[in-house]
Amino acid sequence: SHIQHIRNFCIIAHIDHGKSTLSDRIIEKTRTVEQRKMKEQFLDSMDIERERGITIKSASVRINYQAKNGTKYIFNLIDTPGHVDFNYEVSRSLAACEGALLVIDATQGMRAQTLANFFLAMENNLSILPVINKIDLPAADIPMVTKQIVNELGLEEESIVPISAKSGIGVDDLLEKIIDFIPIPSRKEPQEEKLQALIFDSFYDNFRGVVLCIRVFSGSISERERVKLFFSGKEYITEEVGHLKIERVKCHQLTEGEVGYVMLGIRSINEVRVGDTITSAQSPCAKPLPGYREVKPMVFSGVFPIDSNQYEDLQVAVDKLKLNDSSLYYEKDNSGALGFGYRCGFLGLLHMEVFQERIEREFNVPVLLTSPSVRYRVYLKKDPENYIVVDNPSKLPDPSNIIKIEEPYMSVNIITPNTYLGNVMQLVQDRRGVQKNLRYLDQVQVECTFEIPLGEVVFDFYDKLKSLSKGYASMDYDLADYRSNDIVKVEILVNKEPVDALSFMVHREHAVHRSRSILEKLKDEIPRHMFQIPLQAAIGSNIIARQTISAIRKDVTAKCYGGDISRKRKLLEKQKEGKKKMKSFGSVSIPQTAFINILKDR
Ligand code: GTP
Repeated sequence: SHIQHIRNFCIIAHIDHGKSTLSDRIIEKTRTVEQRKMKEQFLDSMDIERERGITIKSASVRINYQAKNGTKYIFNLIDTPGHVDFNYEVSRSLAACEGALLVIDATQGMRAQTLANFFLAMENNLSILPVINKIDLPAADIPMVTKQIVNELGLEEESIVPISAKSGIGVDDLLEKIIDFIPIPSRKEPQEEKLQALIFDSFYDNFRGVVLCIRVFSGSISERERVKLFFSGKEYITEEVGHLKIERVKCHQLTEGEVGYVMLGIRSINEVRVGDTITSAQSPCAKPLPGYREVKPMVFSGVFPIDSNQYEDLQVAVDKLKLNDSSLYYEKDNSGALGFGYRCGFLGLLHMEVFQERIEREFNVPVLLTSPSVRYRVYLKKDPENYIVVDNPSKLPDPSNIIKIEEPYMSVNIITPNTYLGNVMQLVQDRRGVQKNLRYLDQVQVECTFEIPLGEVVFDFYDKLKSLSKGYASMDYDLADYRSNDIVKVEILVNKEPVDALSFMVHREHAVHRSRSILEKLKDEIPRHMFQIPLQAAIGSNIIARQTISAIRKDVTAKCYGGDISRKRKLLEKQKEGKKKMKSFGSVSIPQTAFINILKDR
């Protein structure tokens, strides 16, 4: 393949603006896979992704395209994950391309992720081809979106391609435009002749181990060649190289400008990092490719099996999920109340929810996730210059030894129709946010920037934002810095026993309010027992809120009049079933649903 005839690009868009539909249409129009096969391929890949309408795992497809003038081209369409939690992965996928199709829904216009992705693409010096999608819809407003593209993004009106990814209108023109608009592949370092390839994605194959998706910037990589990873420092012999055409297709060599995969016989995904550079072991390139970063988990939670007999099943599940998810962090954990489990770190709440869903659905292990926490920096009296990192409220040292606690802040970017601006402001204020910037994108859409403690965004901020804006507001976030605040740990005591799964860190001003709402919910969630149960919230030994669950006196089976044995048995069996989904804390049983409901909205 000649480098002049290669085009490497990705599609970036806000969620639901049509990225997947357009990729499918391009693949179909270029007959990259037969239609029937295509449905199967895409459907069985990842149910959860499909159902939630988000792309988690990225991939790349090599497409043969014959232009109208007869010339044959190779398009490498590189997929990018579609959620803010996966920003680093997105930026590495973009770095593998020369250009991006920026897809904007004609009925919605610009959204927070349109902008976020646009800036990521700009940072990577990509040529950005604006595409207005869904022009088949009656509500499509092409002039409005055109205006936004020209005024807000500073792109040329002439370059805009209006399409309907669904019906196929305009897609042929788009394919032709890609050839002219997306630059021919170029090196990152013009003088570099040695192998320099970027790892932009990785996945796990049960039989072959880790498969690395790479973009060759200079030099070439062949089978049975000794290579080296720059940041990890490790050396390997390449087992196989090839192209990604949905299936893997082996070849002998990948050369400058090409995109493909390489297998190095690596068995653990932890051994490689997306963003690392592959070079030759014998004659390495001078410098690694830019942009490499260690991704750090932001949200932490304890993960425990509801049934403690399932600890080993949980272990298997976590190990398996980890194979394909290098951003997942975990270590063994042991809780007084919950027994053996794991402490896990996630990129964000969505990442955490997907993880929980997969454990329960794919491995059939119902789990309980403890109150999510962020990473605090805690300064202790005995060593005031340095901080320790605490991501688990139950590991917080005694407050009398603490000088100060710093919490992470996010810079949050929200785009909303102005009708909901008041609601958004209120939400941000409730979450200790500070407004930084506000501007109108057009007559209706407002973009505002806030700084908010991460601890306030990780719970239900996004859901709240969606509901108070009837689904119209969108957001994007990024870590800003750490700031010192009056953070305290609140413990929840059930029948005088602290339930560590419910402990949480909070700003002192919000402690009473939050505690009250948790206790109220807990009161509804815990069934009455034979005795009275006090519920308390405490900061240290100081009780700041309380509730009481009163006792029941009657036996559950009393209403069966003793006579009807089968009915009695049924009732007892039903009770037993209910108990399975309960967790015992001392003499009190708390249903699994209680934790979820309490942690979900506060
Ligand atoms: P994520 O994967 O969640 O980022 O979404 P996406 O951007 O890939 O959007 P997707 O392709 O899943 O499309 C979202 C919805 O819009 C789907 O219901 C599509 O059928 C619909 N859709 C996509 N393109 C068009 C179009 O051109 N016209 C119409 N009418 N609907 C479209």
